[in-house]
Amino acid sequence: MAGKNPYMKETAPDPPKTAYRIRFLPMDETVEVDPANLPDRVAGHPGSILQTALDAGISIGYACGGVCACSTCHIIVQEGVESIPDGTDSEVDMLEKAPGLQLDSRLACQAVPDGSCDLVVEVPSWNRNLVQEDHG
Ligand code: FES
Repeated sequence: MAGKNPYMKETAPDPPKTAYRIRFLPMDETVEVDPANLPDRVAGHPGSILQTALDAGISIGYACGGVCACSTCHIIVQEGVESIPDGTDSEVDMLEKAPGLQLDSRLACQAVPDGSCDLVVEVPSWNRNLVQEDHG
């Protein structure tokens, strides 16, 4: 999969043009996003919060591979949501199936910040990818 749902005709938002940071909670890890060096990983839109998280080793579930066909990448944007274009109808429809939905909930694979400000993003406990967690 290449970060695109073949059944949907919506286009990806533009990737960020300026550098910014995302602070992920509750792990309290801050990741710098350099628009000239976006992650190569194929999961979600280019420059999406999901790509940034996975590239930094922060585990977020992404059962559908980042094509807006599940809600396992549900995140809550505590700060900076204004730098993310509004969700598409597909994202909103899928988000309605997510547990713990809040006003600033988004799908990490679809949310592409424009870089105009830093973000604080909470990863709900049930969406952290258990496969990658340390059980030792
Ligand atoms: S990974 Fe499935 S909707 Fe984001």
